[in-house]
Amino acid sequence: MSIIKIENLKKTYDSNGIAVNALRGINLKIENGEFSAIAGPSGSGKTTLLNIIGGLDKPTSGTISLSGEIINDYNPTKLSDLRLNKIGFIFQAYNLIPVLNAIENVEYVLLLQGIGSSERTKRASNILKEVGLEKEMNRKPAKLSGGQQQRVAVARAIVSEPEIVLADEPTANLDQDTGSALLDLMHELNKKKGITFLFSTHDVMVMDRSERLVYLRDGIIAEDKTK
Ligand SMILES: Nc1ncnc2c1ncn2[C@@H]1O[C@H](COP(=O)(O)OP(=O)(O)O)[C@@H](O)[C@H]1O
Ligand SMILES: [Mg+2]
Repeated sequence: MSIIKIENLKKTYDSNGIAVNALRGINLKIENGEFSAIAGPSGSGKTTLLNIIGGLDKPTSGTISLSGEIINDYNPTKLSDLRLNKIGFIFQAYNLIPVLNAIENVEYVLLLQGIGSSERTKRASNILKEVGLEKEMNRKPAKLSGGQQQRVAVARAIVSEPEIVLADEPTANLDQDTGSALLDLMHELNKKKGITFLFSTHDVMVMDRSERLVYLRDGIIAEDKTK
């Protein structure tokens, strides 16, 4: 069964009374273990698509299933449960909580899941070691480089063992080498732990390294290539 199955998905925004057709009929399946990217120019609908897949936004029409379950009609409580337990998010701007240090940022997800203190610390520190931040665990985001902050974001996204990690332009604020190292890390997590990743990107390096490329143009899939 596909992790994600999208059928005839459409999204129209109302921009001051003008209809903006951001997605115009998307059909897409993502299978377990994929390392895939949605590519396309700015404004092509990448963020809209990832946000709908992750339950952050609702489609105008069409269906979206996660592991066989249609999530369109989920109420806010079920949607937040879904985001907490089944989906990991990585954003372009890292989106860490500034007053919490690295390990607290990662532990926060586990706290929301009701996991006890010692188990939280154990799991968060293990994951931070895996992403190469053993020495930076007690630093707040402002004391970390962009690449380190994005590694904390990766750790936070995977600590709850989600079914899929959605990463919206994860390398957009990183220099080439740092972005490349981040891609290495995510690829290793994909291969070693079987974590499914779905990126959005217009970074050629991410496109080169992903194993499947879905091109969006004006809200439709123009091309879908598995390498
Ligand atoms: N909240 C919103 N209100 C109105 N229009 C929006 C909103 N979010 C995105 N759009 C429009 O939808 C289209 C797709 O945007 P987006 O999904 O952000 O594309 P991408 O991530 O590929 O740059 C664009 O035309 C954008 O201006
Ligand atoms: Mg975007």
